[in-house]
Amino acid sequence: MASESSLPPTHRALVLRSLDSPLKVESLATPKATSGNVVVQVLAANVLSYGREILDGTRPYPYPKPYTPGGSAIGRIAAVGPDSTVFTPGQLVLVDVMVRARDDTSISYLIGIHNGFSNGSVKLATDEWRDATYAEYEKVPLENCYALDEARLLGDPASGGLGYSVDDLLYIHRLLVPFGGFRDVDLKVGETILICPATGPYGTAAVSLALALGANVVAMGRNAQVLEKLAATSDKIKTVQITGDVENDTSAIKKFGPIDVFFDISPPMAASSTHIKSGILSLAHSGRVSLMGGIAGDISIPYGAIMFNDLKLHGKFMYERKDIRMLIKMVESGVMGLGQKIGARVEGKFGLEEWDQAFTAAKENAGPGQYVVIAP
Ligand SMILES: NC(=O)c1ccc[n+]([C@@H]2O[C@H](COP(=O)([O-])OP(=O)(O)OC[C@H]3O[C@@H](n4cnc5c(N)ncnc54)[C@H](OP(=O)(O)O)[C@@H]3O)[C@@H](O)[C@H]2O)c1
Repeated sequence: MASESSLPPTHRALVLRSLDSPLKVESLATPKATSGNVVVQVLAANVLSYGREILDGTRPYPYPKPYTPGGSAIGRIAAVGPDSTVFTPGQLVLVDVMVRARDDTSISYLIGIHNGFSNGSVKLATDEWRDATYAEYEKVPLENCYALDEARLLGDPASGGLGYSVDDLLYIHRLLVPFGGFRDVDLKVGETILICPATGPYGTAAVSLALALGANVVAMGRNAQVLEKLAATSDKIKTVQITGDVENDTSAIKKFGPIDVFFDISPPMAASSTHIKSGILSLAHSGRVSLMGGIAGDISIPYGAIMFNDLKLHGKFMYERKDIRMLIKMVESGVMGLGQKIGARVEGKFGLEEWDQAFTAAKENAGPGQYVVIAP
């Protein structure tokens, strides 16, 4: 078990120096724990289905270079700073990718992914919190670490454990994004939620989560095969295929209504998809919309329907810290399953040197429950 004194002087980390040159594994000085942070040994880090598009500039996510990219992760505390009160070396933790400024928590960004949109977030990503989890060790803000009950989560079911693996736990991050949106619009037990697109990594996670929260699901998307697979997993899931005809699609959704919540998790490419309009038009009076997609520009919305039906439009970037604690509790109590229990599975596990294969696998395995891990 690592402790400060046993940390190696150097560690391996994936480094991006410029969008024009490939990622390279480099030997860097191992970070040290000081006040306000811990050093975590990374066991399993998340790979986004569009991870390569970020690192080759196709999705123009700004970030200071050089840097070590990464995603949320599961790791073990390797060293603690003098002001840590709950962490000890060896402890299993969830590492959250969302960094918030300590002196203004409205300033936030995703470490190792995107440096945010404010001077403050760019400053933090440039000066102090730049390098992320595609490395053996990461220096992590104290508040970005969440203790996990290892005995319960990884323990043998015969002795009260849930029998998960570390890789199973990584899926908590996939669930966290829709959880942030659901909590923001206060999705309730027994309500009906329209999720669209429901066929990608976050959309399918949203479907599993909504079921665990006791909601009925209308899963909508373009891909009929994936919709069929989703419908086969629970009789609480109804499906609607996007045809591009707003009127038809709206009535198809309404057949499963009344719809209380419309959760949108569109990628940038879906900015002109008709589902945004049909989703809003299908809502019951006082329905809520949670916009969590990656559409950066403008879209047109049915203003009159929103006004006459008292609809509420919410935007949500990620989630709150209390949401993370709540989701961990749901997993530890068994209310939210992981792994086989919800059909989630690791489709590939790659070392740092295999980053290229990892991004290809993540792109190719973006269906229900599928995910890919980088294990430094
Ligand atoms: N708000 C936040 O905090 C937050 C956090 C994380 C991610 N996001 C955003 O969430 C988005 C979704 O992420 P992801 O990893 O699940 O998947 P993704 O790879 O970005 O998108 C794949 C999903 O989008 C659908 N899609 C693609 N093009 C479409 C189009 N023209 N019309 C309708 N649907 C289309 C796909 O459906 P098919 O099966 O039909 O191809 C699939 O369901 C990301 O792009 C990201 O920007 C937001």
